[in-house]
Amino acid sequence: MAEKSFPDALNEQIANEFAASQQYVGAAVYYDAETLPRLAQFFYRQALEEREHAMMMVQYLLDVGEPVRIPDIKSQETSYSDGMAPVKMALEQEKRVSDEIFALFELAREVKDYRAEHFMQWFVKEQVEEVALMGDLLNVVERSKDNLLLAEDYIAREAPGEESSDPTAPPAAGEG
Ligand SMILES: [Fe+2]
Ligand SMILES: [Fe+2]
Repeated sequence: MAEKSFPDALNEQIANEFAASQQYVGAAVYYDAETLPRLAQFFYRQALEEREHAMMMVQYLLDVGEPVRIPDIKSQETSYSDGMAPVKMALEQEKRVSDEIFALFELAREVKDYRAEHFMQWFVKEQVEEVALMGDLLNVVERSKDNLLLAEDYIAREAPGEESSDPTAPPAAGEG
């Protein structure tokens, strides 16, 4: 027997996704204060994506008639030792979230909740992209560590993480 129900575990993940969103706002504010607007914009957008993930999970729980808990907001870091630190934080964070998503997927299997397993599939794919995205950005900021304007140019040129809309994405609460 699983230790917790899938809806309880997904409610915890909603809290994790909102926390990730807040953390990315913190990183964006740091870069904005350093006058690195492209890095700031990158993290402001990532923050919105994490909020979107939380809202997809909210919509799923609504759809299957399970209770939804909206978590408290914890304060997040807005100062970092150097310009690489927020991206290192982000890569760690995305790896941790991947593990959380895999655990949710496993739980869905264990309790034979096929709807839940299907729902989690999109997030498995999403985490592959997010870990790769943050890994690429870490390479770039490490290479630009003496002049982060090079990383700014890279973001302006390559628009990392700016994908067009994904028709396979689960619906998010409050949209459509
Ligand atoms: Fe996420
Ligand atoms: Fe993410």
